[in-house]
Amino acid sequence: MAKVQVAINKAYQPVFSRKERTIVLYGGAGSGKSKFAIQYFILKYSREKRTALVIRKVGATIRDSIFKEFVTGLSEMGLYNTSKINKSNLSITLKNGSLFIFKGLDDREKIKSISGIDDILIEEATELNYDDVTQLDLRLRSKASNQQIMMMFNPVSKANWTYKTYFEKEAPPNTFILKTNYKDNAFLPKAYVDNLLNMAKTNPTYFKVYALGDYATLDKLILTNYQVMQEKDIELPKDTSFIIGMDFGFTNDPTTAILLGYSASTDTLYILDEIYRLHMLTDEIYSSVVKKGFNKYRIIGDCAEPRLIKELKLKGLKIEAAKKGSDSILHGILWLQSRNIVISDKCVNTLTEFQNYTWQKDKKTEEYINKPIDDFNHCIDAIRYGCEKFNTKNRLRTLEKSALGL
Ligand SMILES: Nc1ncnc2c1ncn2[C@@H]1O[C@H](COP(=O)(O)OP(=O)(O)OP(=O)(O)O)[C@@H](O)[C@H]1O
Ligand SMILES: [Mg+2]
Repeated sequence: MAKVQVAINKAYQPVFSRKERTIVLYGGAGSGKSKFAIQYFILKYSREKRTALVIRKVGATIRDSIFKEFVTGLSEMGLYNTSKINKSNLSITLKNGSLFIFKGLDDREKIKSISGIDDILIEEATELNYDDVTQLDLRLRSKASNQQIMMMFNPVSKANWTYKTYFEKEAPPNTFILKTNYKDNAFLPKAYVDNLLNMAKTNPTYFKVYALGDYATLDKLILTNYQVMQEKDIELPKDTSFIIGMDFGFTNDPTTAILLGYSASTDTLYILDEIYRLHMLTDEIYSSVVKKGFNKYRIIGDCAEPRLIKELKLKGLKIEAAKKGSDSILHGILWLQSRNIVISDKCVNTLTEFQNYTWQKDKKTEEYINKPIDDFNHCIDAIRYGCEKFNTKNRLRTLEKSALGL
């Protein structure tokens, strides 16, 4: 076979000589984690016939992320023409028969039925939970040598399982951890780096996580009264009523739409499904709402965007503006804090926000104030708008700090 040409970032070279079963690649955005993992797997798999499972939490996100990047990787390494790329069932077979199977964890039954897996690659591992990863680990029981689980992620929150597992105490045995950031990627465009560095001024939390690749200091979380469940295990009470909450963004913030169910008899809020995407124009918002089947429901959107609401209404959505009102953020938070909340584990962006949504601190006194940070709130704002309709009691309750758990 012709020698495969590949340009590997220096920071990742040590991985080639590691023998640990678990390889954790974490750090800042654009540090080259995904690119390296793909290069590494293609090299390993060109040498020897093996089968890998390439995993992300939500199957629907695979085609346009890691699968696409694998195909690019094959082209760059001159292996595109000799590989079989199956775009419909998302698999790639190399010339020597090595196989990459791409699956979302939402396809659990299918994953269970795949046998002979030699390695597992997990993209955006913070979207999974500890159980998911333990279960996957159990899948690695073929006879091949040097079986590995490699995972990549940004260090979103200290409330995430990755922090608890790999950083809070000594890392588990047989684990190699490599931290990288933008400085470790020689191939990043200058504009990308400038944008990252600019966050130091505009958004210190994001800067810490996405530029430096550090876990943000976890301040006081606002919403802790939730449990995460697999979609198939959620049993909705008969009296559950449904609504969609929607928040609008474009360049820096995503547009979000969250499917909510509320059962008054059990006082439980269910967070069932989500749309979360940057750069969506009105047409795209509309089509993604229809694709998810969210158009069946009444939608409550951010009233700061009356034109978008009007446009979506003209297209046929049952959409209206949120009322908000004075102190609506705190009232909304208080309402959410006072319910039981169940989050479907497919709502990965909502979960990231719950794990990062914290109270601000007074800079001088270091005391918490009754104001949430203005980050990690795109799904949460959408949820608050939707819940206005469930929160029908009058809102005379005073907003003392103690009521908010401060
Ligand atoms: N070895 C390489 N050769 C060529 N280009 C590279 C290489 N490594 C990284 N890049 C470029 O840098 C970009 C960012 O790399 P990559 O997507 O792997 O970063 P990441 O760490 O996975 O980022 P994120 O945390 O956002 O997922 C890639 O899209 C690619 O254009
Ligand atoms: Mg990546």
